[in-house]
Amino acid sequence: MNAIYPGSFDPVTYGHIDIIKRAAKQADNLTVSILYNPSKDSLFSLEEKKYLLEESVKDLDNVKVDSFQGLLSDYVKQTGCTTLIRGLRAVTDFEYELQMAHVNKKLNKDIETLFMVTSNKHSYLSSSIVREIAMFGGDVSCFVPEIVEKSLKEKFEEAYNGSSKINR
Ligand code: PNS
Repeated sequence: MNAIYPGSFDPVTYGHIDIIKRAAKQADNLTVSILYNPSKDSLFSLEEKKYLLEESVKDLDNVKVDSFQGLLSDYVKQTGCTTLIRGLRAVTDFEYELQMAHVNKKLNKDIETLFMVTSNKHSYLSSSIVREIAMFGGDVSCFVPEIVEKSLKEKFEEAYNGSSKINR
């Protein structure tokens, strides 16, 4: 089975990496695919997200990183791979994920969405929380790989070197 793990990855966290590693054990090939949405403000550009993901999964032989624009169901048609992986952290994720799975199925009946339960350790983790901690100069080393931590520090240099005006 080949599978696609789609997402925003702004930026990739240990929660995503946990799902990627476990999904890669179940699938022959896994494509981690980043949504490119020019109308949505992201902290990282598509190229940066791709670089950070590629660095984070470089030891996994059957995992590659790709991107898509527009509808996920159209991208799935182009790739010919119809299995989607999504992580569920908590009940609060479920409603949105269920809606998305139904919509994708309606748009392309061949799509099957497989849900994987995020490890307990990462169940509270999200990219937005990580961005917020980093924005105020907090330690994100237990949430993201070193390369991502370094990139966040570059983005929020002022907060990290103590010259931020945000807290003053
Ligand atoms: O990491 P995220 O933000 O939870 O990922 C959400 C994502 C990118 C999988 C979802 O927003 C998506 O597929 N967007 C593409 C547009 C689309 O197909 N929308 C219809 C399905 S709801």
